Amino acid sequence: MDMNRQRWAYIQEYSREVFGRQDAHLAGLMDEAVEIGLPNIAVSADVGRLLMILTSMTRGQLAIELGTLGGYSGIWIARGLKPGGRLVTIEREPAHADFAKVQFERAGVDDRIEMRCGAALDVLPKLAQELDPNSVDVVFIDAVKTEYPDYWEMVRPMIATGGLVLADNVLGSGSWSIEDEADLQRLAVDRFNRLVADDPDFEAVVVPLRNGVLVGRRIN
Ligand SMILES: C[S@@+](CC[C@H](N)C(=O)[O-])C[C@H]1O[C@@H](n2cnc3c(N)ncnc32)[C@H](O)[C@@H]1O
Repeated sequence: MDMNRQRWAYIQEYSREVFGRQDAHLAGLMDEAVEIGLPNIAVSADVGRLLMILTSMTRGQLAIELGTLGGYSGIWIARGLKPGGRLVTIEREPAHADFAKVQFERAGVDDRIEMRCGAALDVLPKLAQELDPNSVDVVFIDAVKTEYPDYWEMVRPMIATGGLVLADNVLGSGSWSIEDEADLQRLAVDRFNRLVADDPDFEAVVVPLRNGVLVGRRIN
C-alpha cells in the first residue's frame, strides 16, 4: 500500500474514531480549557488510551509527566496507575496548573496526582533528590520540544528497570515535521529520538499515532 498525505490523514481519523472512546468529562475538557485561554494542544484520545495501557503494564507506582496543560493526558496516565500509585506532573504556567487541578478533582484522580508548578529543568533536579534512583515506572515527556535531550539526561537515571519513557511529538507537531531538516524543534527531537534509540539500556520504538509517540523500555 502506497502512503500519501490523504491516506495518512484518513488513518489518523480512523484511529481516533475507533480507538478514541472517552467519557463525557474528558471529551469536553479541552473545549473548556480553550474557552479560558489554554492552547488546544493536548494529546488525542487514542494517544491518551495508549498512555493508560502502557502505564497499566508497568508496576504502576510512580509516574512523572512533563507538561500538564489542562490535565487531559495526566488523567489517562493516572487511570493506568496501580492502587497506591502516584503521578507527579510538572507545569510551568500557573493558570494551566490551576485548571488541571480542578480537572483532576472532577475525574476523581486528585488523590494520586501531585502538581509541581515550575519549569521542568528546574523541578526535575529537586525531584531527583527526593526520589530513589531507578524508582520511576513511567516518564511522559510533553513540554518544550527543544529541551527533550536535556529532559532525557535528567530522567534517564530515574527510570526503573522495566520502566518506560514515553514522549509526544517525536515526529512533528502543528508547526513542524520530522521532514523539516532545519527546524530547531525538529533537530532537538531528532537528537532525543536517537539518544533513546541508541541507548543500550533501553529498547525503543515510535508509535506513529497523531504526532508520533516514542515508547522506550528500560531493559537493564
Ligand atoms: C503540549 S502541552 C502538554 C499537553 C498535555 N500533556 C496533554 O496532552 O494534555 C505542553 C505544556 O507544557 C507547558 N510548559 C511549557 N514550558 C514548560 C517548561 N519549561 N516546563 C514545564 N512545562 C512547560 C506548557 O505551558 C503546556 O501546558
